[in-house]
Amino acid sequence: MKFDEIDTPALLLDLDAMERNLAKMAEFFGTGPTRLRPHYKNHKCPALARRQIAAGAIGMACATLAEAEALVANGFANILISSELAGDRKIARFVELAKQADVKGVVDNPKPVAAIGGAARAQGCRPGILVNVNVGQNRTGVKPGEPVVELARKVLAEGLRFHGLMGYEGHVAHHAEGPEKEAAYDLAMGTLMECRRLVEESGIPVEIVSTGGTGTHHLSPRFPGITESQAGSYLLMDTDYCNTCKDFERTLTVLGTVISKTEGERVVVDAGLKSISSERGMPVVKSFAGLRLRKLNAEYGIIDILDPAVSLGVGDTLETWVHYGDATVNLHRRMYGIRNGEVEEILWLQG
Ligand SMILES: Cc1ncc(COP(=O)(O)O)c(C=O)c1O
Repeated sequence: MKFDEIDTPALLLDLDAMERNLAKMAEFFGTGPTRLRPHYKNHKCPALARRQIAAGAIGMACATLAEAEALVANGFANILISSELAGDRKIARFVELAKQADVKGVVDNPKPVAAIGGAARAQGCRPGILVNVNVGQNRTGVKPGEPVVELARKVLAEGLRFHGLMGYEGHVAHHAEGPEKEAAYDLAMGTLMECRRLVEESGIPVEIVSTGGTGTHHLSPRFPGITESQAGSYLLMDTDYCNTCKDFERTLTVLGTVISKTEGERVVVDAGLKSISSERGMPVVKSFAGLRLRKLNAEYGIIDILDPAVSLGVGDTLETWVHYGDATVNLHRRMYGIRNGEVEEILWLQG
């Protein structure tokens, strides 16, 4: 397929930049003690997950059951669903999946632990479970301290496999670098290490301590007790994350076609909110300094012409940098892998 055969709007991936990001993170976590378990939710692409495993990742993390199901269907093992599972339907699907492959779940409440235990006994299997600890993000996670030990005991009492702890320091990931970020990280991970100590002191072995994102991965050597990092955004990155995390390159753009032009005022492309997210900020046009994306409607990207010398007419294409990767990837079924200006491969998204 040639580049000019791509129908718009389309999500483009710069393969060279993605491979540099892949290699950089693989090298960082190569020797341990912390290993990489990249998050699948950021790219939702089995072909990219395969490359992460080939580069040394120990398994995948994912956010939803649908993502875990996609990974299992594509032959992956060692999967951690990093969001709590609740409700009979979800728990039945989880147990079904855990029968097929090593799929672990996280819990922060005794009720789903009992439900998972009951469903697993009925199915004759023992899924692996991690207790999720609130390390300061104040989203999910059990309170640090004794509640963590109680929940770990409950997991074992239900006949499930207790693997260890998760503690996601998402509230630190987007901080600017510096002593404040390091202090916030130390507080979060120190809390998690203390929970690990309490659980182990109660006689329960802790095999996995799973944390982390792209913006904090480099701080993980401060806590050798962290066994794995769930960094995921690093592979594709986006403009928003690049503002605070300069270690990785942006790789994603959305290609649109100019469908209307008002001379000297604006061009309108066929890439709007249904193909690029403006959550977290307005995306920026690539390669044309004289154009500024002003507004996204459902199917329209409205771009002001700041420099009348920009020669772009109806039927021409232009790329816009993806500002928020997760929300944009979620709008597409495929990415076009681009190298040297040509389409090298089509990458399908699942989950
Ligand atoms: C639980 C969890 N782990 C890991 C990640 C990946 O972090 P990052 O996007 O910083 O790589 C996320 C992202 O939101 C997450 O919610």
